Amino acid sequence: MPENTWDTSLYDQRHAFVFEFGKGLVSLLDPQPGERILDLGCGTGHLASEIAARGAHVVGIDSSPAMIETARQTYPSLTFQVADAQNFSFSEPFDAIFSNATLHWVNDPEKALECITATLKPGGRLVAEFGGKGNVATIVTAAQEAIEEIEGSWVESGWYFPSIGEYASLLEKHGFEVHSALLYDRPTRLEEGEQGLSNWLKMFGEHILVSLDDDIKQRVIQQVEERTRSKLFKDGYWFADYRRLRLTAYKVG
Ligand code: BEZ
Repeated sequence: MPENTWDTSLYDQRHAFVFEFGKGLVSLLDPQPGERILDLGCGTGHLASEIAARGAHVVGIDSSPAMIETARQTYPSLTFQVADAQNFSFSEPFDAIFSNATLHWVNDPEKALECITATLKPGGRLVAEFGGKGNVATIVTAAQEAIEEIEGSWVESGWYFPSIGEYASLLEKHGFEVHSALLYDRPTRLEEGEQGLSNWLKMFGEHILVSLDDDIKQRVIQQVEERTRSKLFKDGYWFADYRRLRLTAYKVG
């Protein structure tokens, strides 16, 4: 997974939309009392807490120790563990796996699906949402072009944004039946007005900017703002061109 060092309080303050939008995904999951549910990529634990409030037994995992530390402090009665989405296992299987805004961070989606399949009971469900094909394409292209112009090199985004066809095929290959899949545009208003896009790039695009000196980083961010302003800046706010892939799939068996 691309390495990010998460500042969890800035994540919660400025980017609360990640879990606010995720509440709709909890409704789609429809957790039942007594069900055993894994929250894969639980971040600071807010959605795990929503799932637990419906009476399910939740375990939250995240690859970031900082996220897990904050989740444990905020929700001490829930269970959270540091674990990588591409390398996890549990001795007791789950009725459902829930995952919001995580699966686009994996380098190897097949490894993640191997872990997911092995961790679900037969007939268990995966309810997931993450970036789909074309997600934040305006921002990514502007960043790639700005870095190429300033540094003379092309960087890959490092994110995995598959199409419905690609991901549904992977799910079928790994023993799932796909019941629903939706690719939809969700322009997302970023907090703090003029600062919004810069904040977003520093929080989520850290792995793209990390190798740049501070002054170059600042020039890249300025160029990204200039290149995207006409499309993404409206009425005093930046709107990131999010495009989500939302799906429900059942493990055959
Ligand atoms: C997303 O949730 O789609 C996303 C978040 C951060 C970076 C890229 C994508």
